[in-house]
Amino acid sequence: MDEKARILQLREELHQHNYRYYVENAPVISDQEFDFLMHELQDLEAKYPEMFDANSPTQRVGSDLNNEFETVVHTRPMLSLGNTYNREEVADFWKRVSEGLMGAPFQVCCELKFDGLSISLHYEEGRLVRAVTRGDGVQGDDVTANVRTIRSIPLQLPKGGDWPRQFEIRGEVLMPWSSFDRLNAEREKAGEPLFANPRNAASGTLKSKNSSTVAQRGLDAYLYYLLGDGIPGDGHYQNLEAAARWGFQVSKNMRLVDSLEGVFEYIDYWDKERKNLPVATDGVVLKVNSLAQQKSLGMTAKSPRWAIAYKFQAEQAETTLRQVVFQVGRTGAVTPVANMDPVQLAGTQVRRATLHNADVMASLDLHVGDRVLVEKGGEIIPKIVGKAEVDNSQFKIQNSKLEFVDRCPVCGSKLVRYEGEAAHYCPNDTGCPPLILGRIEHFISRKAMNINSLGPETVDDYYRRGLIHDAADLYELREEQLADPQASDNKGVRKILASIEESKRVPFERVLFAIGIRFVGEIAAKTLARYYGSMDKVAEASMESLMQINGIGEVIAGSVIQYFANPVNRAFVERLRSAGLQMEIGEQQKQAQSDKLAGQSVVISGVFQHHSRDEYKALIEQHGGKNVGSISNKTSFILAGENMGPAKLEKAQKLGIRIMNEDEFLSLIKE
Ligand code: IVH
Repeated sequence: MDEKARILQLREELHQHNYRYYVENAPVISDQEFDFLMHELQDLEAKYPEMFDANSPTQRVGSDLNNEFETVVHTRPMLSLGNTYNREEVADFWKRVSEGLMGAPFQVCCELKFDGLSISLHYEEGRLVRAVTRGDGVQGDDVTANVRTIRSIPLQLPKGGDWPRQFEIRGEVLMPWSSFDRLNAEREKAGEPLFANPRNAASGTLKSKNSSTVAQRGLDAYLYYLLGDGIPGDGHYQNLEAAARWGFQVSKNMRLVDSLEGVFEYIDYWDKERKNLPVATDGVVLKVNSLAQQKSLGMTAKSPRWAIAYKFQAEQAETTLRQVVFQVGRTGAVTPVANMDPVQLAGTQVRRATLHNADVMASLDLHVGDRVLVEKGGEIIPKIVGKAEVDNSQFKIQNSKLEFVDRCPVCGSKLVRYEGEAAHYCPNDTGCPPLILGRIEHFISRKAMNINSLGPETVDDYYRRGLIHDAADLYELREEQLADPQASDNKGVRKILASIEESKRVPFERVLFAIGIRFVGEIAAKTLARYYGSMDKVAEASMESLMQINGIGEVIAGSVIQYFANPVNRAFVERLRSAGLQMEIGEQQKQAQSDKLAGQSVVISGVFQHHSRDEYKALIEQHGGKNVGSISNKTSFILAGENMGPAKLEKAQKLGIRIMNEDEFLSLIKE
């Protein structure tokens, strides 16, 4: 057989073994044999680069390319479901459906509600072409490269199946408990923050910048909704059976029922049994099975009338309250935390619970000695939800009501509460340690100075050792101070110093964002930087002048004035200036402004050589254009790099929209 044909054959075989292993849990060859075939394929693909295929089984390992996600509009909006929390609400749903169908008999498909994040997968000619997150339901992120690494998602359906030429299938991407526990154990060892629950871990992972991280984290997916013209059956359940035949992982725990009692049985069974599942579930989803009946029931603005979710009750335990302490977070928010007698809850021993904020705490009316109810929701930290139904009156007499503090427990400053916010804050952001650390972390973060070799732990460490007191001190650090005398080489330290040095080139607008003026986010910083052009001009600006600017309101303007009125902040900015940070917009940027693209809508697609996607976005805006996420007949042109998505290309061609490459674009704005 010729080698190119062998590539195709290997791909098909590996897709099948993959399915047997990850979906059916019944491999027919050993791991070694699998690796052997995979290596053969990798070698052949390296030899014939023209045979590259993004859906080849070799692509499951992901790549280190930077994924900047494109926003895409969903073909059909991704609605959410109405929630119910008790039997009455479920019975109401049943009744509404029955009435809506004028008393006709109907079946309901009962399913588990998987606790991950929803995903929409598009297949064309049996190939995975696009995977999109739910986003806001109307548009989401294109996460195809990352989704390709999830082994239970087929990249290529077996030939000859009765799948339609084009369809969409939706489901939940999740992280099984086993992967979650392993990941958190690794993170704990590395001193990294833990994920609160498998859902957050799955979501963080799916949005990862590089797909090899995703590949290592062991995500899984269950599919639960088939859409599109030409799908095989008239029943939801039957369609999912078909999807399972095509190689999708569909839950084996779905049941068709034709009575409300059947629904309750399902709920009661899984409320207990779900603890033995390998993945997190937080409820049950009920769907009218017949597609014709679904259609006749229709939707409300937010959710279908033919489906509903029932949420399991979070687990609760009863224990005794001993004390309330107050923690100051890095934003300055003060959180009351209860210390309690240890109690067993959802598999772990619990002795601390959050009371959220002053209002929640007051409404609970707590006294030391009270018996309280603790609940574990989706978060790692349990919360006190109320008092147990026992006689707590003696504690009310013996101990006074626990009150929220009015001064910062760390630095003693009087706390403030901003309008519309539930939390109290310590306002001492230049003198209170947790806030100082929070400001430094903000300063070094990716969208600010992007000093990415410094993590929160290292910052803490330097602060504790007295090496830094604010972000400006970073620029005075020397290798001798940081070097570990025991270490043979101090590569890590040099890397840190290099990335601090590198940050001196970060453009002014990001410096303005980095210094951490309250309410001045990325966008406002950009607006102010472009309007005033330099730090000095921003610092001198009056309230009237600030408020004239489009996008700057009273709150931001007031905050800017307040920031520069504080001599501590002014001194800080001066030290950054002496360190060599950019204090005005670059020459290029000054010249670069024009209205050459006024009124034009530009879509950016693909991978670029000369500038990053963000830089192109900025260039488009500087020349008066607008960057939009998806192609429509309003699009003026497409700025295309390499590997522009095939779907986009086709759409652009269909609408006759001009596709411009990088060089053409750059010369257009230079002209
Ligand atoms: S069906 C129109 N089925 O729960 C049908 N959703 O608010 C839409 N979910 O966003 C979804 N398990 O992320 C469906 N078996 C299941 C599900 C499920 C989990 C999630 C999904 C959705 C949310 C509902």
